[in-house]
Amino acid sequence: MRIGVLTGGGDVPGLNAAIRAVARRAFNYGWEVRAIKNGWAGLVEGNIVPLTSKQVSGILHVGGTILGASRTNPFKDQALVRSCLDNVEAFGLDGVVAVGGEDTLGVAARLAELDAPVVGVPKTIDNDVPGTDYTIGFDTAVTMVAESLDRLHTTASAHHRAIVVEVMGRHAGWIAVIGGMAGGADYIFIPEVESSVEEVCKHVEQRWRRGKKFSIIVVSEGAQIKEIVHTEDELGAKDEFGHVRLDRRGLGETVAKEIEKRTGFETRSVLLGHLQRGGSPTVFDRVLATRLGAFAVELVKEGKFGYMAALRCNEIEAVPLSLVLTDLKTVDPQLHELAQTFF
Ligand code: F6P
Repeated sequence: MRIGVLTGGGDVPGLNAAIRAVARRAFNYGWEVRAIKNGWAGLVEGNIVPLTSKQVSGILHVGGTILGASRTNPFKDQALVRSCLDNVEAFGLDGVVAVGGEDTLGVAARLAELDAPVVGVPKTIDNDVPGTDYTIGFDTAVTMVAESLDRLHTTASAHHRAIVVEVMGRHAGWIAVIGGMAGGADYIFIPEVESSVEEVCKHVEQRWRRGKKFSIIVVSEGAQIKEIVHTEDELGAKDEFGHVRLDRRGLGETVAKEIEKRTGFETRSVLLGHLQRGGSPTVFDRVLATRLGAFAVELVKEGKFGYMAALRCNEIEAVPLSLVLTDLKTVDPQLHELAQTFF
């Protein structure tokens, strides 16, 4: 048997742990493993090379991905889909393990519909892949956000300032709500619940009157804020999956300026950006990646293509990849309400 492994979409800490798990489990079965470079681009171009035991040694704790990543979407052109299918044959791959978020796994689902031997492993710091309780990388990202909020609290309090912290999260506010709750945020904007600058200003003023002369406000990059609307043109070109670059909204900076203008309180902004995707994975992400990666190899062994390994109630289970084509796991408003209790 010979399998290929690829990592697509934005990188996350824990990808290397997943690659190592896939490779080691496959080697235990006496299989060969191939590195498909740079996500789906590698399968399209035939950029596929042997992956050795030595290459997956010492990478468990290392961020990024030894395979490289890209946001290549073969389904933008049928010829590219054909190349993917042809290369599976040409390189003698009996299985392809795709480690990715909604876009990468969406491609995996569609290739599986065309009878390609593909299985998935869910990763994204956004945690918005349906069918799994957690995705690889999320825990590391929210740990980083919570630590950042701890640091910002002391300086905000010392200078009696408001600080607006922009975090990632394209369609879902998991990073904002969980990172914010863990870091004691005083207000959280997420994509799922529309809010307003007017409301946050009232809240900052109320806190000031209660003697809390600082505020930490977390803004998800994809948040819906009544007074702040961007046109498609302002957001620039889209990627191959039709997504704009949300950092171009500059939401954290805009909210900070609005708060300062409307309340008169000195307000600063901090953009956590790609720091959320860097560094060493947490214990949780290392173990999750190890469990999901090893399980994906079992899926290939059983010929259970078109499925992904998923975490459900602390068990690893097989979930149909087709789920990612129709659904997205967004934040339950009740969780946001719980966070509000502590504002
Ligand atoms: O999809 C994960 C993610 O980190 C999103 O939160 C963010 O919008 C996007 O990737 C940023 O992608 P890039 O690094 O390609 O700009």
